[in-house]
Amino acid sequence: MRVIPSIPEMRAQVLQYKRDGLTIGFVPTMGYFHAGHIALMELARQLTDRVVVSLFVNPTQFGPNEDLSRYPRDMERDTRMAKEAGVDIFFTPDANELYSKAFSTWVNVEGLSEHLCGRSRPGHFRGVATIVAKLFGIVQPDKAVFGQKDFQQLAIIRRMVQDLNMPVEIVAHETVREPDGLAMSSRNTYLSQGERASALCLYQALCKAETALKTEKIGLETLKNAIEGVISAKPFTRIDYIFIGDPNSLQPYDEDGFQKAKEVLAALAVWVGKTRLIDNMCFTKQPH
Ligand code: PAF
Repeated sequence: MRVIPSIPEMRAQVLQYKRDGLTIGFVPTMGYFHAGHIALMELARQLTDRVVVSLFVNPTQFGPNEDLSRYPRDMERDTRMAKEAGVDIFFTPDANELYSKAFSTWVNVEGLSEHLCGRSRPGHFRGVATIVAKLFGIVQPDKAVFGQKDFQQLAIIRRMVQDLNMPVEIVAHETVREPDGLAMSSRNTYLSQGERASALCLYQALCKAETALKTEKIGLETLKNAIEGVISAKPFTRIDYIFIGDPNSLQPYDEDGFQKAKEVLAALAVWVGKTRLIDNMCFTKQPH
């Protein structure tokens, strides 16, 4: 595995791959790898000739009171894990190289950024879309792999790629979970033992929603109350949002829309202590 810290070197390597007729698979990350990241790298490995993984903790997707400075970092461990996962290029650009003082071009994906995390983290998806567009410009991947845990991010990147005619295929990987069901996240490392036990409520609430949708004709408010009940029963928790809506438009359902819907996205953001966790599941509604 080659570690490339600069943009010109990365560009030269990409050019070489293209000259050699090799396809490039890309996994952009913010590091502190867990099994979820490794699964994305392995999928890229299966789909393409060469795998590029970037590690960049992107400052522009963090709000002023968010966890940029304490975001977990361990370059040595990440380098080792990427190598073991069969990554070819580990791209570790520098913030000053990516964002010059004069930087003033932003990618805003409207509509899809409005609800869910877009509401509680203003500017977050502008930062995500901008850095992903920049990384795509540098790495020029044939395929890029993203996790479904960040459902809204995935939808926004798909939209951006379509709207801006970017020649890259976006591939989704299902959410990778701990054995008990907790969605893997670098932020799970912030949790104390007690908080870790409570954090399972996101998965439990989504499973409850799935069962309710399968077995009974349920109203929108009843469904939301059932989800809220599971989460609120656990100590350290505070709900940021419970979203029940359309998985394509990412618009919330009203009661009528919910009753008519075939596909339902249930997405949650919950504070567990000082850590904000997200999770989601997509359901196909059964006729009752
Ligand atoms: O999902 C992430 O880790 C980040 O949002 C991404 C896509 C690497 C952009 O910084």
